[in-house]
Amino acid sequence: MGTATARANANIAFIKYWGNQNDQLRLPVNPSISMNLGGLYAETTVTWDGALNTDSFALNGKEEIGGGLERVSTHLDVLRARLGFATRARVESANNFPTGAGIASSAAAFAALSVAGAAAAGAQLSERELTTIARLGSGSASRSVPTGFVEWYAADTHEGSFAQSMSAPEYWDIVDVIAVVSKKHKDVGSSAGHKSANTSDLQGARVAGAGERFAICRQAIIDRDFATFAQVVEHDSNLMHAVMMTSRPPLFYWLPPTLAIMEAVREWRAEGLRVCYTLDAGPNVHCICVREDAQRVSDRLRASSDVLDVLVASPGAGAQVTTVSIP
Ligand code: DP6
Repeated sequence: MGTATARANANIAFIKYWGNQNDQLRLPVNPSISMNLGGLYAETTVTWDGALNTDSFALNGKEEIGGGLERVSTHLDVLRARLGFATRARVESANNFPTGAGIASSAAAFAALSVAGAAAAGAQLSERELTTIARLGSGSASRSVPTGFVEWYAADTHEGSFAQSMSAPEYWDIVDVIAVVSKKHKDVGSSAGHKSANTSDLQGARVAGAGERFAICRQAIIDRDFATFAQVVEHDSNLMHAVMMTSRPPLFYWLPPTLAIMEAVREWRAEGLRVCYTLDAGPNVHCICVREDAQRVSDRLRASSDVLDVLVASPGAGAQVTTVSIP
């Protein structure tokens, strides 16, 4: 029993995960593809300590109780069951990106927690298994374990729904220029959203076409074909938001500035800039562009009165253990 620290980047999905075939195991209804966001990471230290009676969890220096602690403790139970001990842990985690900036922090957090938790116990688990463990904490966290561009498979078993890297970060020099339009914490989180996906009449149609969009997106990345990539990424994001908006009760994540930026991005692309948009469960717009056009996109976003802040991320590495100490 010891202590270990791991770092994991957040990720942005190009083909989205929305809805589970098994909510408990977070087995998604469709496969997804993402890119790790280099430099936007969670750093988590896990200390397994036989003297502790309960788990504890501090996030960004603040002691968490209630729901936040419970979700971490439930994930520690997964690690305890897999590693075969009952020891409690102290968990300390910090995100280096602004909280409330609408960057999915659960992906980075549960990837880092899984990797640090295993390392602190001296366990050598395969990357594949670590992606499935991370998935149980937060579905998208499975995609923050492997490096670069990552695919996560839909399957009806725990072992079958794993994530793996399809290419290294250096493979394609695209950039996520994130336009922050609201710093408000979202009212309805992803976990509740996944559970309501089936209440939309459109979810069946979205899922029916997801395999084909996954294949098109995957090939566009392999071919570094931005035009094809842009079409399928925007379409997939629009489909997910159509499902959200038509769920009962409906989930509207877009704000007026969100729509203004989406329109601007389409116009910029018509002018020749290689940029497209995608949105997660929030109003901030991820503008994915080729490196040569990133500065222009970021300048234009910064000039807009709709934009509060701009963050820029290049394709990033997978989760990494930074320190381990096992007495
Ligand atoms: C819209 O992974 O945050 O960002 O499994 O309940 O933790 P939980 O959900 P989460 O869902 C992410 C949804 C999304 C799309 C995506 O990242 O694929």
